[in-house]
This record gives sequence, C-alpha cells and structure tokens, in this order.
Amino acid sequence: MVSRIVKVAPFDLVVFGGTGDLAYRKLFPALFRRFHDGQFSDGTRIIGAARHDYGREAFRETVAKTLRQFALEAIKDADLDAFLELVDYVSLDIGSDAGWNVLAERLPEDANEVRAFYLATGPDRFGAVAAQLAAYGLITPGSRIIVEKPIGRDAASAAKINDALGAVFAENQIYRIDHYLGKETVQNLMALRFANALFEPLWNSGHIESVEITVAETIGVEGRGAYYETSGALRDMVQNHLLQLLCLVAMEPPAAFEADAVRDEKLKVLKALAPIDASNYEACVVRGQYRAGASATGAVPGYPEDVGNPGTHVETFVALKVFVNNWRWAGTPFYLRTGKRLPKRVSELIVSFRNVRHSIFGPEVKILPTRLVVRLQPDEGIKLWLMLKEPGAGGMRMRHVPLDMNFAEAFQIYAPEAYERLLMDVIRGNATLFMRRDEVEAAWAWIDPIREAWNQSPLEPRFYLAGTWGPASATALVERDGRSWYEESN
Ligand code: BG6
Repeated sequence: MVSRIVKVAPFDLVVFGGTGDLAYRKLFPALFRRFHDGQFSDGTRIIGAARHDYGREAFRETVAKTLRQFALEAIKDADLDAFLELVDYVSLDIGSDAGWNVLAERLPEDANEVRAFYLATGPDRFGAVAAQLAAYGLITPGSRIIVEKPIGRDAASAAKINDALGAVFAENQIYRIDHYLGKETVQNLMALRFANALFEPLWNSGHIESVEITVAETIGVEGRGAYYETSGALRDMVQNHLLQLLCLVAMEPPAAFEADAVRDEKLKVLKALAPIDASNYEACVVRGQYRAGASATGAVPGYPEDVGNPGTHVETFVALKVFVNNWRWAGTPFYLRTGKRLPKRVSELIVSFRNVRHSIFGPEVKILPTRLVVRLQPDEGIKLWLMLKEPGAGGMRMRHVPLDMNFAEAFQIYAPEAYERLLMDVIRGNATLFMRRDEVEAAWAWIDPIREAWNQSPLEPRFYLAGTWGPASATALVERDGRSWYEESN
C-alpha cells in the first residue's frame, strides 16, 4: 500500500546549523524521502547555513555522502542528483554580520511565499538568529521559524528564549518541535481515543486503574556527554517527550483536531499535574545513573566514564509517579519512566483498566485486568489484552491474550520518520503537532520544583548496571502500590 501524497506549495527552507549532526542524520534524510515520494513542488529550495567555509558543490557532496549513510533505503543516483539540485549553501556567522547579505541575496523578495527557518543549533543561538533575520529584512508574512528542544533549562530560561523569538515572530509563526509528536503511533493515540466509540466512555479514573509510560533506550550518551551533563534525563526526556505523551493520554477531547484546540487541552493537563517538590518527591521520584555493565553489543562503561566526570550527579534514569488533579483523573496514578542503557529499546503506553467487579467464574480462575498497550517503537502497534477461554472441551480455562495489531503488517507501509511529517506540517502551516509557548513554560514550571528538591536533597542518584531496568527503587515505586511495570508476558 502506498500512502497518498499531496504536494506542498514550493518553499524555501534555510537550515541554520546545516552542517551539524541533526541536519545530516535527521533533516536531510527526511527531506530526501519527502522529495523522493513526490511531495515537493517545482521551485523548492533548501539552503544549508553554517560557519563552515563550504562551496555549494562541496556541501552537496557531503549531503550526498551522509544521505547514503543515514537514509534507510538504497538511494538511486538519479534521485539523489535531482534532490541535490535543490540544495544550496551559505557560509555565515550567526554572531556577526558575516554572510548574512549573501543569504539575503539568495532569498529575494519574489522568492517562494513559504519561507521556513530551521534552527538546528543550540538554544543559546535562537535569539541571535531571530534578531539577524529581522535585521536583514528576511521575515516575510509567509515566514516561519522552527526550533528544537531543549527550549531552555528551566521556566525562566525558556521564557527568555520565547521572548527573543516572540520579539520578531508571531506565535503562529513559531514551530517548537517535540519529535515524539511526529511519531506515527503517537498520532494514532488520538485516532484511537477520538475516532472509536469504545474507549472514551471508559477513559477516566472510574475505569482506568493506572497508566504507564515507558521510554527505554539501550544507548548511552553517545558523544553528547557535554550536553547531557547540563541536562540529565528529567530535562532531556521527561520535560518534553514524556509529558507530551501524558498530555495526549489525559487530555479532554478537543473540539476539533486543530492546533489551538489540541494545545489548549494539553495545557490544561500540564496545569492540573499535582506538584512534586521537596515535601513529596522521595515518595514520587526515583533518579538513577548507569554504571558499567552489559549492553546488547557487549560490555559498556558507566556514565561517569562516558562523560569523563567521576563525581557526576547527573541522572540517566527517572521514574515518577504522577497524578493529574482533575475530575477525570483524580486517583489514577500515571507511572513514567525513562532511561539510557536499559535492556531494550522500547517506548510504550500501557492503560490498565479496573478489573471486573465480580467474577462469575469462581476463585480458581484468576482474572487479569484488560490492558491497552500502545507501542510507539519499535514494531509500532496496539495490543488489547483480554481474558478469553482456552479452546477445549471440559472446564473453563481462561487466558490473558492480546488482540494484536502491528502497523507494518496491517498497513504494509513503512512508518515515516517523525521529521518527515513534522517538516511537511510546517510547510503546510499546520501547528497541531508542535508545542505552544505556554505549554513549554507550563511543563518547565512543573519540572523546576523537582530539580530544586533534588538540589537540596542529600540523596544521590541510585546506581543501576547498564543493561538492567534501572535502580531497584524504581521497581519499589510501583510495587508499593501493589503493581509492577508492564512486561510483555504479563
Ligand atoms: C532526544 C533526546 O530528544 O530523544 C535523546 O535528546 C534521546 O537523548 C532521543 O536519545 C530519543 O529519541 P527516539 O526518537 O530515538 O526515541
């Protein structure tokens, strides 16, 4: 099955940080695939902008080389050549005037109406790029700016970045990426909830006993130690990806699948999160740090060795027990966990329904609760665990078995990378899957007291061996409530 391709209007896309890791690994491969599938209109242009003193041809060669390395499929020379025709390069310095006139010349007034500036740079450069874009008259009514996380490291720094962007762009021109929102199954969560009559009547604390959100990675910090030392798992993963997932599970049905309607509802969830601070964090939060152990590929060093800082206190694992204080969710815990160097790469949401209130099958039949498991990656799919009778004459033996839907099998189509979807949404001017300023700041406002509590606490992160499911206290966090983290065999 081939997905339906609707062409987008011709656009100019300038990628600041065009020679960086994000550009080569994610953005160019995503753009190439959209081009390859025929989604671009004639006249589209992609301009890499960075300090490197490349010429256009040298840049095209590097893009070609990295596309062959990072795009998943075999690439035909003719396709690649056609794509590279769209690619240009401008050498410029964000912090000075060097090169900006050249960029302005490449973007004449009669250029494409849709103009997108992608800031694949550190957040410390966001304000400077925005100011230069304004100073050189490059912001047209059809312009939009795309920024990557981390948007700040706390509520105050996020507000500063947002102020700098907001000084020259209107809020509806600012696209803040959380690439988890571009993942196919994350969007499917909204389809599942709001396009089926089955779940929504049960989607509340009266019927849902607990929700689990796990984002587990096998990788360590992979050469990003300097960044990670200033971040840690709470800032790197929880403030954005996990809270966004929580919002999608917990939000009220928006009136329409439109940017502000969806974002209004997500914001309400963030504002309803029960605070975690010095008074309760020991009961609600576990932080861990991996030590030397084993990954799938063999022995691996611990986090302190990975970042060359023997005394580091930075967490590589977080588990939280969170409540959403509103009418729908009062009393239902949301257990969140994420970590690096865990035994397998898996991201999933598990919604556990309350058990039947009375079993007609007697005490000898153990009835397990209905569970909905939404697998975001890998092997995207949905499982609904039900109690069913085992086939066979005589007796009433029952088993917990899943109705199992695997997207790749069901739709016979590859799941596009999040960036493919998100980049095209920017060009179309659809901000539904992007974060609004108030959401980002509300998420930080909830995260900041947790960090402050840590800073004041004598407790260090608990260690866990690489290749295990985090510190023992993470297991205890759910066991204290008589529960366990979901495992496939449950
Ligand atoms: C990024 C984090 O936002 O998400 C990384 O900065 C993390 O630390 C990555 O590895 C995980 O993304 P994905 O799409 O591989 O689950």
